Amino acid sequence: MHKKDAVILAVETSCDETSASLIKGGRDILSLVTSSQISVHKEYGGVVPEVASRMHIETITKVVDAAVGKFSLQQIDAIAVTCGPGLVGALLVGISFAKSMAYTLDVPLLGVHHIDGHISSNYITNKKLKPPFLALVVSGGHTIFCLAHDYLKYGLIGQTRDDAAGEAFDKGARLLGFAYPGGNMIDNLAKNGDSNAINFTRSIIKDAPFDFSFSGIKTQLRHYIEKKDKEYIKKNINDIAASYQAAIVDMLTNNVSKAAKKYNMDKIVLAGGVAANSYLRSRMRAICNENNIKLYMPQSNLCMDNAAMIGAAGYNMLMQNKIADMTLNAMPNMELYDK
Ligand code: KG4
Ligand code: ZN
Repeated sequence: MHKKDAVILAVETSCDETSASLIKGGRDILSLVTSSQISVHKEYGGVVPEVASRMHIETITKVVDAAVGKFSLQQIDAIAVTCGPGLVGALLVGISFAKSMAYTLDVPLLGVHHIDGHISSNYITNKKLKPPFLALVVSGGHTIFCLAHDYLKYGLIGQTRDDAAGEAFDKGARLLGFAYPGGNMIDNLAKNGDSNAINFTRSIIKDAPFDFSFSGIKTQLRHYIEKKDKEYIKKNINDIAASYQAAIVDMLTNNVSKAAKKYNMDKIVLAGGVAANSYLRSRMRAICNENNIKLYMPQSNLCMDNAAMIGAAGYNMLMQNKIADMTLNAMPNMELYDK
């Protein structure tokens, strides 16, 4: 058996953040260091995979060094690394690094699913949280509604049919002239806007109430912008942002209480970069309050990609002895669910 207070060194490189963390007992962060590439990708309007891989190679040693900091390498009981889903070249940088660390230190290697990581960020913020619960994962690449039956055991109940929620935020922000990733910008502008100013149509998917579709909303915004002049957009930017955000958040939250009832769950966990959105957080609080559902959300700095969440998920793998070997490879389309 592995010890309960095991210290895990975790590495995350699946997209555009190079991140390393030391985490104890799966829930206590000893250190967390993240280097973001966003300022570079911004110039291209999105993440350029080749540039991402190269920047991970340049930064990973420095980031891990900084995360280990004053701790000694002998204190590390296991190495966890994101092995999918994500950009293949970017994932491989973290995996190769993690393998060599695990081999050199002669400790177990843990291959973590990125979405399991996002969900597990909640174990850090909410020390008493335990499955089962419903999880709504909203990030730049994924929008997933699932049941966490147990640690590492997930069942899918819904997902996006097209764009992810974060993508809808980023594409909307881009149409309004803001740099990638614009989710946070929309959130900030919306704070001073009227969410009822423009009535964007909310997509509903017939016969699949827990699925989502976000591709229509950005087209509606594009058509709206095309009909107005630049001055008008500038003057009404807060209202446009608030209305656009409200439509996305409504689509995300419309069926949350229905899902809780259907699957007999009294706990809901929010996760992913969009979980940092202030309006989504307040809507979720209101809905969960009205329906007697306990709501769990990660603290804001753990919503976005970070290695601490990978360590939290890796810990659950260590406890179940789900150890990877040196054949661990990048899985760009890795599945989360039990078959
Ligand atoms: O989870 P994450 O860091 O990366 C992926 O795994 O995709 O999520 C990044 C996404 C981006 O689309 C970003 O615009 C969005 O999260 N995001 C937000 C906010 N903060 C980050 N979207 C809306 N409101 C925010 N405050
Ligand atoms: Zn992510």
